[in-house]
Amino acid sequence: MGRRKGADMGRLEGKAALVTGGSGGIGSATLRRFAREGAALVCADLQQESGEKLVAELNAGGARAVFRRCDVGDFDQVQAAVETTVSEFGRIDILFNNAASSSGGYTADLDLEEWDRSLRVMLSAALYGMKAAIPHMERQGGGSIVSTSSIYGLVANPGIAPYCTAKAGLINLTRTAAVEYGRKNIRVNAICPGVVETPMFDAVLSMGLKSREQVADMHALGRTIQPEEIADLVLFLASDESSAITGQAIVIDGGLLSSCDLTGTPPAA
Ligand SMILES: NC(=O)c1ccc[n+]([C@@H]2O[C@H](COP(=O)([O-])OP(=O)(O)OC[C@H]3O[C@@H](n4cnc5c(N)ncnc54)[C@H](O)[C@@H]3O)[C@@H](O)[C@H]2O)c1
Repeated sequence: MGRRKGADMGRLEGKAALVTGGSGGIGSATLRRFAREGAALVCADLQQESGEKLVAELNAGGARAVFRRCDVGDFDQVQAAVETTVSEFGRIDILFNNAASSSGGYTADLDLEEWDRSLRVMLSAALYGMKAAIPHMERQGGGSIVSTSSIYGLVANPGIAPYCTAKAGLINLTRTAAVEYGRKNIRVNAICPGVVETPMFDAVLSMGLKSREQVADMHALGRTIQPEEIADLVLFLASDESSAITGQAIVIDGGLLSSCDLTGTPPAA
């Protein structure tokens, strides 16, 4: 438990990881980071073309990676992705529940079928992954599960109730699984990113309500976040370096939520 690898070894050497939403911005940055640290990888996503291209790139760089097309809103497909990880690499040490898609609208106007779909893809999907992976992790003697929540698991934005609700639910699913399986050496954590420069943020900007500069200015750091910075946190949580951390929802937002400026006083020059 918590044993450190030698300094000359990758931080995930000997481990196998399943990343959902692996074809997207945060997922692909994480797979690249994991590959550099020696993990064997399964990229699971609906987007086959970009996923297969990424996996080819990782394998050309010396990694062991496979793509598995998977709709995370379907338990059987998530279970199949977990089984692919185990059949390809003999184990599953890291599960990164990261896929998401959602539509919006004011709460009273939400389409009920779309509400159900969004919660399945963004909340139930994490449960599906846990349900399929935890028995393998128990048999292996441990594992690390990380789920991508959001600052919108902690605060709200008008017009995205399914997103905010699912991301909040993920945080307490994370805590619950952490207290249930901690003694099996399975750690369960969530990350709460702020504004990350991925296609998802591009979609927000395309609404034309706030500019990139306006959004950047809302942050203590005066800038948004790069997917590689999220990947560094996921790597830490996936690796043995975070061996005492479980049940947490870690905010990584460049100081966005730290701000509530009432006076208009500018930051230090
Ligand atoms: N970008 C941000 O600012 C931001 C902020 C906070 C949290 N997040 C979260 O980070 C995670 C990754 O998002 P991203 O920013 O990389 O966006 P992205 O759009 O680049 O990636 C999302 C990926 O999920 C995949 N996906 C969507 N529905 C799926 C399904 N049903 N089954 C399988 N795959 C599916 C998409 O194909 C895509 O590859 C999401 O959970 C998102 O909510 C993003």
